[in-house]
Amino acid sequence: MPRDTELKTDLAGPRGPRPGMFDYLEDEDIDARYGGGAPRPETPHFHFAVVGAGVAGQGNMLGLIREGRGAVRGLYDTRRRSIDTALRCLEHPENVRVYDSPDALFADGSVDAVVIASPNHTHREMLERAVRAGKHVLLQKPMATTIEDARAMVRAVKDYPRVVMLFLEYRLKPVYLQAYHEAFVRKSLGDIKMLRIHEHRGPFLNKAGQWNKFSRYSGGTLVEKCCHYFDLFNVFARSRPRRVFASGRAAVHYKDFVYKGERSDILDSAYVIVEYENGIRACLDFCMFAFENAEGICLNGDRGRFQGDDGESARIRIRADNGVPDAELVTRWRQGGAHSGSSPKQLKLFADAVDGTAGRYPTVEEGFWSVVLGVAAERSVASGQPVDIPELLEACGGPPEGSAGA
Ligand SMILES: NC(=O)c1ccc[n+]([C@@H]2O[C@H](COP(=O)([O-])OP(=O)(O)OC[C@H]3O[C@@H](n4cnc5c(N)ncnc54)[C@H](O)[C@@H]3O)[C@@H](O)[C@H]2O)c1
Repeated sequence: MPRDTELKTDLAGPRGPRPGMFDYLEDEDIDARYGGGAPRPETPHFHFAVVGAGVAGQGNMLGLIREGRGAVRGLYDTRRRSIDTALRCLEHPENVRVYDSPDALFADGSVDAVVIASPNHTHREMLERAVRAGKHVLLQKPMATTIEDARAMVRAVKDYPRVVMLFLEYRLKPVYLQAYHEAFVRKSLGDIKMLRIHEHRGPFLNKAGQWNKFSRYSGGTLVEKCCHYFDLFNVFARSRPRRVFASGRAAVHYKDFVYKGERSDILDSAYVIVEYENGIRACLDFCMFAFENAEGICLNGDRGRFQGDDGESARIRIRADNGVPDAELVTRWRQGGAHSGSSPKQLKLFADAVDGTAGRYPTVEEGFWSVVLGVAAERSVASGQPVDIPELLEACGGPPEGSAGA
């Protein structure tokens, strides 16, 4: 492209950081029932720092600034280029400290909260440092790449008096909130017996150092991406997983992917079935070489069925025989930046938590169980055998204290 026709993407401007980032949301897209609401112009009253200034770190930073209660104090990243990109998004980058080490960041007494958005294999170290420094933490998913690390992290935050929130924001997508509402508030489905989630999409984006193409950094596709869906399985099953069966492979994108002479070892497609202690069966249909994006959930109970498809708008259909009226609806609330891990709803929830006013939010213990399912699914694919969850946990040091039962 000739230089003078290059598109300009300078997002800083007189109206504040990345003006208009969420301006496409219309008032009716914001439904207070789901804990949303238009961003409130507030005076910032806590300072946060960001570890990892890539896509998610920038998205989280800008979303928190936009939310109004947090002001960015500093950034730490191992790559100067990521820092420079993040600073260019800001109206006053001169106010932001650039730390030359994690020690410098965590020793900064003016930082109240830390957003951890570095690659997955660094999460344990960063969380443990944050806890030693007494910071509030917003931790990107998946919390860890191994069960051993996830277990140690649950132990590290036991009785910790500050906020540690997992960024498992798919829970806040309208289609899953609506499914939850039908299942557990309106109770239109009776007892849930089976649930299925599908996601068909394109391949992973490029990342700094291509960390997401290698299991030792990401935990593998079924941990890295599918922790969102396994978290939803656990939310809907309300039970502990007992056994996992999975089949998958690198069918299209990653069978020949090579970076710096090393071949990628991740999957791009899988079917995963989870059996829960209470008898519920859950199934994930995951494909990363789809020519069209599709995502949704189906819940079958003994009294009704819920089918919901996510997208620009969520399309929902409920059929039941228990006197609850059938329904078909379209909820127009779009995702609002969730693609870069910057869901405004979850960022508002984090600011509420720092202020001590938040309701329920995703915890490290819940993050632990989504990692367990991801690791079990990866192992089942590798071995071709079902994975018994109690045996897997035993081999990895057992479940975290107090979380063995349903
Ligand atoms: N919740 C969501 O939907 C969502 C969406 C995207 C990413 N994420 C998560 O966010 C995290 C980051 O993903 P991303 O897409 O921003 O990746 P990215 O590659 O765009 O950014 C990661 C950044 O971390 C930096 N980094 C690497 N090692 C580091 C270290 N030891 N200390 C500090 N910084 C380091 C890299 O230089 C890079 O700038 C991952 O855990 C990912 O799973 C979550």
